[in-house]
Amino acid sequence: MNKILVSSYEQLSDTAAEEVVNQLTKKPDSVLALATGSTPKGMYEKLIERYHEGKVDFGQAYTVNLDEYQGLPAEHLQSYHYYMKKQLFDEVNIASDHIYIPNGLAEDARQECQAYDSLIERLNGIDLMVLGIGRNGHIAFNEPAAWFDCNTHLVRLSESTIQANQRFFSEGEEVPKYAYTMGMKAVMGAKQVLLLAGADKHNILKDALYGRITSALPASILQLHPNLVVICEEKAE
Ligand code: F6R
Repeated sequence: MNKILVSSYEQLSDTAAEEVVNQLTKKPDSVLALATGSTPKGMYEKLIERYHEGKVDFGQAYTVNLDEYQGLPAEHLQSYHYYMKKQLFDEVNIASDHIYIPNGLAEDARQECQAYDSLIERLNGIDLMVLGIGRNGHIAFNEPAAWFDCNTHLVRLSESTIQANQRFFSEGEEVPKYAYTMGMKAVMGAKQVLLLAGADKHNILKDALYGRITSALPASILQLHPNLVVICEEKAE
């Protein structure tokens, strides 16, 4: 594990963006697995800046998002389709047919999950996966459970995740209870994993990186990843 300690969110975002830029410079047609939520927002801003400065080109890149709420259409303001469009895709030169996000409105959930795993295989796996970490230790939407789920699956979000994500939804609007998420096979199969943790993730990050490896704390599996880079704010350490 390579741990990079940074002193501010600004620096976290900058360092993370630089990792993505390096990846795309090395391999312009990289497959990037991308997270949503608060943590990577700054990284996306920095990537857009670097794109405008001519320092990065998304022209050949592919993106596969980690997860999506079940039941939300792509245009819904809280869907991860919409988030990605606003935070990155509308601002850079990524080809629309190189963008993949689970379809929250899929009629057949099993088929959607299988198709997503086949897609990852067809793309020859993920070159760089960007992860945040939930307060309960989830990565993507792999929630604490009795076992590690291998493949893309439909998951019932834990009450703590629903509560944590309520902040993004307007008053009276319910957070969906289910979401599609990549499983641990995609996470552990990614050639490099970049885990981002702001100061608010201090306790859970410590347990995930140095505690017991257990499906009760899904991020702990990352201890076994051969190419893990953790970028965390000093206070998260
Ligand atoms: C989002 C995702 C989640 C978030 C996690 C942390 O695509 O996969 O695992 O990374 O819930 O969210 P924030 O960054 O909002 O604290």
